[in-house]
This record gives sequence, C-alpha cells and structure tokens, in this order.
Amino acid sequence: MAVAKARKAANKANGKPKPAPSLPKTKENEAQIAVHWKEEEYFHPSPKFIGQANLNDPAMVERFSETNFPECFRAYAELLHWDQYWHTTLDASNPPFWKWFVGGKLNACYNCVDRHLAQYKNKAALIFVPEPEGEAATVITYQELYRRVNEVAAMLRDFAGLKTGDRVTIHMPMIPELPITMLACARLGVVHSVVFGGFSGEACGLRAADSGSRVLIYADGYHRNGKWVDHKASADIAVETAKKEGQSVDKVLIWKRYPGHFRSESPMIMGRDFFVDEVLKDYRNHVVAPVSQDAEAPLFLMYTSGTTGKPKGCQHRTGGYLAYVAGTSKYYQDMHPTDVYWCMADIGWITGHSYIVYGPLALAATSVLYEGVPQFPDAGRPWRIAERLDVNIFHTSPTAIRMLRKAGGDEPNKYNYHFKHMTTVGEPIEPEVWRWYYDVVGKKEAVIVDTWWQTETGGFLCTTKPALDPMKPGSAGPPALGIYPIIWDEEGKEVRAGSGAAGNICIRNPWPGIMQTIWGSPERFVNQYYKKYNKDPQSKDWRDWPYYAADGAVLAADGFYRILGRVDDVINVAGHRLGTKEVESACLSLPEVAEAAVVPAVDDIKGRVPVVYVSLKPGIAPTKQMQDKVTSAIETMIGKIARPKTIHIVPDMPKTRSGKIMRRVLAAISNQMDTGDITTLANPDIVEQIRIQVQGRSRGPVKEGPEDIKMFGDER
Ligand code: PRX
Repeated sequence: MAVAKARKAANKANGKPKPAPSLPKTKENEAQIAVHWKEEEYFHPSPKFIGQANLNDPAMVERFSETNFPECFRAYAELLHWDQYWHTTLDASNPPFWKWFVGGKLNACYNCVDRHLAQYKNKAALIFVPEPEGEAATVITYQELYRRVNEVAAMLRDFAGLKTGDRVTIHMPMIPELPITMLACARLGVVHSVVFGGFSGEACGLRAADSGSRVLIYADGYHRNGKWVDHKASADIAVETAKKEGQSVDKVLIWKRYPGHFRSESPMIMGRDFFVDEVLKDYRNHVVAPVSQDAEAPLFLMYTSGTTGKPKGCQHRTGGYLAYVAGTSKYYQDMHPTDVYWCMADIGWITGHSYIVYGPLALAATSVLYEGVPQFPDAGRPWRIAERLDVNIFHTSPTAIRMLRKAGGDEPNKYNYHFKHMTTVGEPIEPEVWRWYYDVVGKKEAVIVDTWWQTETGGFLCTTKPALDPMKPGSAGPPALGIYPIIWDEEGKEVRAGSGAAGNICIRNPWPGIMQTIWGSPERFVNQYYKKYNKDPQSKDWRDWPYYAADGAVLAADGFYRILGRVDDVINVAGHRLGTKEVESACLSLPEVAEAAVVPAVDDIKGRVPVVYVSLKPGIAPTKQMQDKVTSAIETMIGKIARPKTIHIVPDMPKTRSGKIMRRVLAAISNQMDTGDITTLANPDIVEQIRIQVQGRSRGPVKEGPEDIKMFGDER
C-alpha cells in the first residue's frame, strides 16, 4: 500500500523538468553573484528501488514538516536502544547550545554492537579489504566485533587508565582496529579524537594537545598506493609536538598491521610505547559493561579547518549524533541489515565516522573498509572489490569519481556487480561527471544521492530522498528531513528560489546531528556559526539563531539546492578541508619567508588545489631550493594532502592601503580570471608583475571562473 502510494508520489514528483527560469539581471557584487547554469534534466529512481526503499512513504515527509519540529526527530531517536528514555526532545533554552533528547541515557557502542547480537551475531559487521590484492579480505562478525571491542575497552580502562570523559587521540590508517578502538572508547564514554592517518605527526600532536589527550593510539604502518608507509615514526613527532604545547603523553599504544610482526624503523620508547597485540593477551575474553551515558555526553571530537590558523575540535554528542546518523543512514543511504555497504572515504574524516562506522553499525548493516587508494593497482580495483563482496550500496567523492573516470572510463563495464544506490559527498560534482557515475558506475540501475553537509553538522543537510525525489545532476537537492535552510545575501535579505542568485546558505533550525560546541572554545563556536545572522544575542528563541554554513548556494525554482563551495578562507581539496591560514602559517615558520598567501586554483581531478604565494625577506634569493623548503614545511606541519600545486615567490603581495593582502586578486590571477577593480590597492602595479610571472603574459583574455573563486577573499 505504502509502496503504491510512494510510487504515485514519486511519479508525480518526477514530472518533466521545468524549463530553466529566465534569470533576472542581478547586480554583481561579492555577496550575490548571478549564477547562470543550464537547468539539468531529472533522473528517476526505478520501481524496483522504490519498492524496497526504507523511505518510500511520503507521510514521513509530512511527519518532519516544520509544524512537527522538534518532535519529528523522535523518529530518528527511536531507531536506537535507550537505557532511559528522554523527557525533552529539544532544550533550546541556552542558544545556540542546544540539548537533544534530554534526560535520555544510552551507550553508542551498545547500540552499534551488543544489541545486534541476538539477531545478527554471525553476520558480517565489517569486511576489511587490504590494499595488496593477494591478501584475503577479513570478515568481522558482530560477535567477533563484540569480543574485540570488549577486550580493547578492558585494555583502555585497566592498562591505559582511561575513564569516562577522558580524551584520547587516535592516529590510525584504514584498518579494522580503528573502528574497534573507536567503539571501545565509546563503550567507556572516553571521547575519541581520530586524526586522519595522512596528517603529519605535528598535526596530530597539535590536536592531541588541544584535546588534552594523555594517550595516543597508533598503528605501525599500512599499505598505500603499493608502498609501505612507516607510520609509527610520526608518533614520536606527535608526542614531541604535544609536549611543546604543554601536553604530556604518558602512553602510546601501537597496533601492528600484521599482529606479531612489527614493521617500523622507529624504535619503541621504553615505558611509553606498548604493542597492543601483546598487552591484549592479558584481556582475552574480558567483558566490560557499556557505560550508560547522558544523551548530551560528548562522543567524539573531529578537528577541522576554519578561518583562523588553529583547527577546531568539533564536539559531537552521543544521543543526538547517533540518532541523526542512524536516521540518515536508514532513509538516505537506504541501508538494510541485508545490504553490503561500501563507503570509500577514510574513517579519519567525518564521512567515515558517520557513514562507515556509527550509522551503518547502528543499523546492523555490513560496512566495508578498504585500506588503500581506489586506483591501486589499476582503475578496475573498486569494481573488483564490489563484484567480489557483492556490494550494493556505494559511497564516494567527486574527486574519486573523476579520478576513476580518467584512469579507466570503461572499467566498470568489465565487472559483474550491481549497485542499487550510490552517494557522492564532499564537493560539488559536475553534471558531466555525475552522468558518468550514473551511466557507467551505476549501470543506469542505481539511484544517486548527492549529499551536502559538513564536519560540524554530523550528517546530511541537503540530499534527495532516494525513492521519493527525482535526481538532478550537479544539485544536492532538497533539504533533508527536519532541516529548514534559507539563503541570505550579505545584508541578510533572503535570496529567493529561482532568482538565479547566489548567497550564503544557512539552516534556520537546530537538528540532533549538529555539533555541541568547539572543544574548549564556546565563544568561537558562537562567533563562527551563529553570529553572522543572529537576530538578537539575548534571544532565547531558536528561530533567532540560524546556523551559518560558510557555503555559497543557489536555490532553483524546484526547491533543489546547488552548493557552490566555501565562502570563507577554506579550500576544499579533493573533498577535504584545508584552512588557508594553516598553510600560510606553515610557510611563515620559515625564517626566510616574509609574507604568505594561499589561494585555491581549479583542478580537473581534485576540484581545488592550493597555490602558494610567498615573498621573501630582503637579501634572500628566490631559488628552486627555497620553493622546495616551503613545500617541505607544509608537508611536515600539515601532511601531504596540503602539498601545493605551485609556489610562486613574488617580489611583493597586492595589498589594501591598510596593509591587508588581497587574496582575491591572487586567486583571480591563478585562475586566469578578471582581477576586478584594483585601483584602490596600495600597490596596484604589482598585480601586473605577478600576472606576468604566473601566466607568462601581461593582461590577456580572462575566464568566467567558478563562483567560489569569485567569492574567495579576505574582505568578508
Ligand atoms: O563546501 C562544502 C563541501 O565540503 C564542505 C564540508 O567539508 P567537511 O567538513 O570536510 O565535510 C565533508 C564531508 C561532509 C562544505 O562546507 N561539500 C560537502 N558536501 C558537498 C559539498 N559541496 C558540494 N556538494 C556536496 N555534496
């Protein structure tokens, strides 16, 4: 019955695309840039998909309408096991520090592991696929996961001395011991802070110090792109860095990628470093009772880049977060316990936390973990994995899709796998790339959800409901259930649907997945996300506290949001956030560098890449060695992911009369775009000099350029 209704509704929604609205002339200024793109055709979910979908009843949409806010989110919380039911769904009395499911008690690990044992103990929870193709995949059932998580929890508590509320920093690659360690922390109520394995030891040390971690958890090494990465060495740097920041680390626990074989050149430090496989022998079959946590107890920190130099620790709560990722995994990722779900992201990013670990495991799904890079040893690898494991839900980023398309556009055709559902996340996807994903990877059988969200938001904010909405290439789609967005211009005037103008996308209401605060910096939390469009700082009404996402967006007449990219000093490289200030401060750590500015440049595969401009102190020569020194400083302080595309050593930076570097002008030059009015600069002549140096010519034809680069700048 519900299915027939859903199909009817979907067919209704799936009407032919409306012709593109005629775009009114909009005054081009920085806040509201007219965006002209071709209106794309809709694609429709198949009746087969709709028939089996978790969200195919339009009544659910009604249930989440604004009139039912905030109680609508009970539907998500009810997917979990609560030790004690909550009395207040949303306590908004201290904006913007929302409290969700107040009075409720639960344990995240219990919800992801223990409660599935009765029905699914012998079912695969995690399937680990090593990068070397000759190494067999490892299947970890829910029963085995339960055993291993308990043993690690016992070790963390009794050997490492960790207690509820303590923070622990985990710097590990994509091996099953990573989610096992996270779940063991959750079992104890220990707040985990996972640092992406590709970040440097320094980056890890800074984050460990900020979170006050006394214990670091590492792995000796891992396979990446056919090479063995010795990871343990970065633990020593992390400990040193944390120490310089005033944080002492007592214990470093080291997992071995191959138990029994230590594969690192780096020595073990007596009394500080311990091999987990050896310590665990004392905890064989130990069982630790899950600690019943307040819904508002922090579950984890996830550091992300912001507008200032220091990465901020986004603090996520236990109840609201878990409810939100369980709900969105169920209804948007369409996960059932019988599905084999593979998200190719890294657990070290929020996508991996929400949609490899917590969401899928909360639903008793099977989640695949792949150690390596997608195109190793060739571009057919992901499709071989999909075929072998019979993956039917696939989740990745536009960068990976572009890469696989370039490296082997026909490869998917050679393999006999069938996806019912695919996700894209992390950056805007070009309609042409979307269509390849749909036609070739999805074999025209799979629905696609383009999910827009952020580290801060815990889970999806805009995406199509896979069985109920049509898909439109390049658009994230309508808001997720219970999310009410709005686009405002810089002056706070609403940018209307179908106007063709861009503005700042905000979410008018709180939702359970939103972070609680920035770890140790509540003022920064308020200033960064709520100050911009706050109507009254004294107000106790949530309606006066919209969430500012720092993304540019356009709303089409059909209610679909198209996300244009960051409007702050953050560059989205291959779907990962890089703060320009972080990269700049790495450059400035060199005594020879006088000034540094980092801007985004368009890249065919990675979306955006950082381009670095530095000026040197008097008497220092602009040599190739100097450029290499800058690159190496960036890699050491942040990691290889921040490696710039180019480093330009310039005689001076374009500056305003007050001395501010005009990054917008440098971004325009790096992307062959119009630099706009530069007459008000203190040194307008330098612009032409830099242009000749970078482009090899004086003023030539300019490109239109994407909106985020136009919007990139330091004035806002
Ligand atoms: O600019 C948006 C972009 O990625 C940013 C968030 O990055 P991060 O916190 O690392 O989280 C990535 C995974 C959620 C956003 O501010 N972004 C994310 N998803 C999309 C996107 N841009 C366009 N379309 C998306 N689907």
